[in-house]
Amino acid sequence: MTRLVLLGAGLIGREHADLVMGHPDASLAGLADPSPEAERLAERLGVAHYADYASMLDEIRPDGAIVALPNRLHAPAALACIERGIACLIEKPIAGDVADAARIVQGSERAGVPVLVGHQRRHSPDIRAAKRAIEAGELGDLVAVSGMTLFDKPANYFDAQWRTRAGGGVLLINLIHDIDVLRHLVGEIESVRAFTSNAHRGFEVEDTASIAIRFANGALGTFVISDNAVSPWAWEYTSGQALYHPVQPGPSLFLSGRKGALSVSDMYLWRHARETDHWQDPLVREHRAGDGSRTYVNQLEHFIAVARREVDPLIDARDGMATLAATLAVARAAREDRTVTLSEMLARPAEAA
Ligand SMILES: NC(=O)c1ccc[n+]([C@@H]2O[C@H](COP(=O)([O-])OP(=O)(O)OC[C@H]3O[C@@H](n4cnc5c(N)ncnc54)[C@H](O)[C@@H]3O)[C@@H](O)[C@H]2O)c1
Repeated sequence: MTRLVLLGAGLIGREHADLVMGHPDASLAGLADPSPEAERLAERLGVAHYADYASMLDEIRPDGAIVALPNRLHAPAALACIERGIACLIEKPIAGDVADAARIVQGSERAGVPVLVGHQRRHSPDIRAAKRAIEAGELGDLVAVSGMTLFDKPANYFDAQWRTRAGGGVLLINLIHDIDVLRHLVGEIESVRAFTSNAHRGFEVEDTASIAIRFANGALGTFVISDNAVSPWAWEYTSGQALYHPVQPGPSLFLSGRKGALSVSDMYLWRHARETDHWQDPLVREHRAGDGSRTYVNQLEHFIAVARREVDPLIDARDGMATLAATLAVARAAREDRTVTLSEMLARPAEAA
């Protein structure tokens, strides 16, 4: 039995608690969160409650810790785990800024303590199947990709004031997942250009963005995102894997290569019937069914294996830092109206806010 603890029992922390409690190979040994709701949750679940996570880590000495705290607390919490040799699953983004992410990377790599970053989509059946198809060469070299995350958040979502101010917008909350998937499937991002808009909600922070991406392997991509537009085109709907959204089967990401094309999450793989065919010849399509597994359960199972030191994290701290830096590059590209490279974001982490 792998003994896990939870740091932060808010919206997503409660989901993690339920997942751990329901898993046959893991136990929840305690949770740390000073809120009265968290204390009641601990009582209901019958697990030890702490207001202070350092005391919990010292007393329980768990195999792994799930960090579901507000972003700015990710770095101190991760370092507290690393110092004690405790593997951690840190919710996304890895940290509030690249400088803090770099501290986690350094701590984790120096101490040899694994950190898994909670970009759960990499554990989902559709993204796993897409990765397999790409790695098997079924699409050939990727040439062009395009994706969408378009959905409409309700007005009361913005009662939390931080969501209306810089850093609380659709880029850092949502686009970061899409950027992580693009890096995972297509390859490292070299540079980005972007426009952002707040024309519809009128908050200080962006609600909509369009992004152009150059990947290091030569592929090009575009992405549009809005939290104020009605559509079924968002992984949260199309995958059927999100925690709080209805299932709306269909595509939200399109990948096209020299040999074939794939739409995700409906998982149609398109290609010509013969290798010698060209644009005037018909395309045939195959359906690639997912394996029926659940994304968050898969993520937890992977973390259990990481905590037992059986596997390396699928998204380690360095990888999570690059996803954060590429997402912040989009914000900077829009703000400064220029092309921003990933390497400049990583070279000067203190400025990469
Ligand atoms: N992967 C996903 O799909 C996903 C979804 C939602 C949130 N998140 C991420 O999870 C993290 C938490 O988000 P949330 O929506 O659950 O936030 P939340 O505000 O609902 O929960 C945060 C909790 O942390 C507690 N807390 C604050 N300071 C603490 C401290 N010093 N020690 C212990 N507990 C403390 C708060 O009392 C609160 O219960 C964020 O980083 C967010 O980006 C990820």
